[in-house]
Amino acid sequence: MIGRGAPNGKEMRLLIAGNWKMNGLGASLAEIKALNEALAANPVNCDVLICPPASLIARLANVANRDVAVGGQDCHPKPAGAFTGDISAEMLKDAGANWVIVGHSERRQYHTESDMLIADKTKAGWRGGLKVIVCVGEVEAERLAGKAEDIVGDQLSFLPDGASSANMVIAYEPVWAIGTGRVPTIPDIAAMHGFIRDILVKRYGPDGGKMLILYGGSVKPDNAREIFGVKDVGGALVGGASLKAADFLAIIAATPGTS
Ligand code: PGA
Repeated sequence: MIGRGAPNGKEMRLLIAGNWKMNGLGASLAEIKALNEALAANPVNCDVLICPPASLIARLANVANRDVAVGGQDCHPKPAGAFTGDISAEMLKDAGANWVIVGHSERRQYHTESDMLIADKTKAGWRGGLKVIVCVGEVEAERLAGKAEDIVGDQLSFLPDGASSANMVIAYEPVWAIGTGRVPTIPDIAAMHGFIRDILVKRYGPDGGKMLILYGGSVKPDNAREIFGVKDVGGALVGGASLKAADFLAIIAATPGTS
């Protein structure tokens, strides 16, 4: 779905991705039904993705109509084996997912995931037939020390060969903005997205100019429009505000060309 032209002044159709994290039971499928109905009634000018906990992927894939894609929140580098509690890219695909998030800061922090491991997970996602959202971002002390670009540049240096605008999306998520209600200034978002764009073009050539770069961290209905107006912002990775269809739909409605 990524790559369709869009009459919004941006080269790529935006992607609005919801990350439910460790939230959601069967009853939460009602939010997907609400999303289905609203998107069927009001066609939108962006792609929509929900990444529920693994326990809900198959059920959500059954309920979601074709306007709502489904993704996992993590995958193991291997396709199968003795790795208790883990899930492979092939299993996510088998359950109905077409996407996977890797390298989320909560995985980096609570599961001490390294950039090398995240690169292996990225390749695993592709092997399993999934499009991969790779998350990067600095912690607050790094930003205050003026090192945000160094940190993000370093994280991006681990991206594997084989990435393309058809199989990879970057999500820039400053860790201090996740779940806090705090967001960087618009010039800071623009500067970081421009920095990431330069790296992608240097590394992958013209196709790097087409890779989506999502912003993530406290995206809400009231700040989404301004963020989506920033050059090189290709959509959003949304945590808390993706749990309720009404909030998520308000963010979707803020994409350029959708009303
Ligand atoms: P938030 O989370 O929207 O709740 O800040 C974003 C994320 O972690 O992807």
